[in-house]
Amino acid sequence: MSKTLLKEINKRKTFGIIAHPDAGKTTLTEKLLLFGGAIQEAGAVKSNKVKKSATSDFMEIERQRGISVATSVLAFEYKGKKINILDTPGHKDFAEDTFRTLTAVDSVIVVIDVAKGVEEQTEKLVKVCRMRNIPMIVFINKLDREGKDAFDLLDEVEQKLELNVTPLSWPIGMGDRFKGIYNIWEKNIKLFSGENKQKISDGIEIEDLADESLTELLGEEDAENLREEIELVTGVYPDFDNDEYLKGELQPVFFGSALNNFGVQELLNAFIDFAPNPLPKESETRIVRPEEEAFTGFVFKIHANMDPNHRNRLAFVKVVSGTFERNKPYLHVRLGKSMKFSAPNAFFADKKEIVQESYPGDIVGLHDTGNFRIGDTLTEGEELNFKGIPSFSPEHFRYVNNSDPMKAKQFEKGIDQLMDEGVAQLFTMEYNNRKIIGTVGALQYEVIEYRLEHEYNAKVSYENINIHKACWVECKDEKSPEYQDFLRVKQKYLARDKYNQLVFLADSAFTIQMTEQKYPSVKLHFVSEF
Ligand code: G4P
Repeated sequence: MSKTLLKEINKRKTFGIIAHPDAGKTTLTEKLLLFGGAIQEAGAVKSNKVKKSATSDFMEIERQRGISVATSVLAFEYKGKKINILDTPGHKDFAEDTFRTLTAVDSVIVVIDVAKGVEEQTEKLVKVCRMRNIPMIVFINKLDREGKDAFDLLDEVEQKLELNVTPLSWPIGMGDRFKGIYNIWEKNIKLFSGENKQKISDGIEIEDLADESLTELLGEEDAENLREEIELVTGVYPDFDNDEYLKGELQPVFFGSALNNFGVQELLNAFIDFAPNPLPKESETRIVRPEEEAFTGFVFKIHANMDPNHRNRLAFVKVVSGTFERNKPYLHVRLGKSMKFSAPNAFFADKKEIVQESYPGDIVGLHDTGNFRIGDTLTEGEELNFKGIPSFSPEHFRYVNNSDPMKAKQFEKGIDQLMDEGVAQLFTMEYNNRKIIGTVGALQYEVIEYRLEHEYNAKVSYENINIHKACWVECKDEKSPEYQDFLRVKQKYLARDKYNQLVFLADSAFTIQMTEQKYPSVKLHFVSEF
């Protein structure tokens, strides 16, 4: 095993920050980059969220698309480690994007607003992380504002997110009375000072909370409260255990205020200590380890060029094992095609550059003219496919029709490529081959129409169809009379997804329930991977 490879692997930590919009993901990202010296001032990271005040939501999505190229991967160095932050949009219409990105991270930080507590998007995203046992650190943000009681909030996190938490830092007061943070892990206190709470003391070591010096530092009341609270914390919550965290069984919690840069360094230091290096990844045939000499990687995101005159796209590849090299031929497994990349991009906080070599954990941006699809695997020749880019049932469904018969080819190509990018999901009805597009948000239909017209010179029209959910069908015995009966009776509601998997398009929750009752051996899944 090459020493360089091992050294590079041990240097890398690739993670995502997940949060409901407005919890503080952008602010926290920016503070982390500031610590890493990757940016010089606050405000450098553009928020990619869809602003509510925008005149047109649709133009806002286009704006967002522009920004998200820049924020897709933000890399920085800190304490000798190379940290890659992968962007995960919080807006629900982009949830699919985030789910896919979560297949490329080795750990996540979950940001929660202290006043709002656990919100809808956080719940959905954490559920996906939990299913995959991704190590999670929780950061409770906005402690400079009045919010929920810390114990109540931890209860909420445990119940709604089904996590097993243990706080490693603890707030001293909150809102106007927010004085600082007791670092349970390192046994020290950091205090705010100054009018606008911008100054932060160096850590004051506190060996024993019973010590009189605590009272001198915080005043009688706060000192007593802290002692009581920490006693409760140590009594109620389990001790932190790094292995349990790495297995996704225990989640450390930190408190702070990203805006005031408070508690962020504690979070970052803990992240550096605890968070995993690039992890092995399961393929359909075997588990691939990062230290294997041969390069492997997979596409988790495709970004179309913003310039409609160039149909060039950027495919984001996570390096799983070995060393990726510029101009070296690799096997595109699905197409069985050898490909070389003369201008692979590496990403930094504020720029992207052509890279000669990349290592496990890194993200490489490959220029693509339509060869890649999300989930594709690249290797040095081995026929393997990485697992785990799931599709979730869309929320909206419509028939799509080509409304300009002269442009049928462009239309097909456009639909095909937009689906490869993961803009929406395509289903083809079994009995008449009609195409249905399913999306997470209704706005995606406008995006598809606009992009087909501007990038492919094709025209689309939509037709409503009453579908409640797409259910991926699984049956252990496909020859059984029950399954055959299901196929016959439901014929008009069966379709194939892009990967040729069978999908039952159910028109209501009631239909799903009745179908499950009538055909107990036919399993219906709301996610394509089971
Ligand atoms: P997001 O990416 O998760 O959507 O959240 P973002 O960081 O954009 O933060 C959302 C809002 O919350 C921003 O205010 C931001 O300044 C504020 N915020 C973030 N961290 C803290 C914190 O620790 N304390 C307080 N009090 N506020 C915080 P905004 O007014 O919506 O936007 P802006 O105009 O300030 O950018």
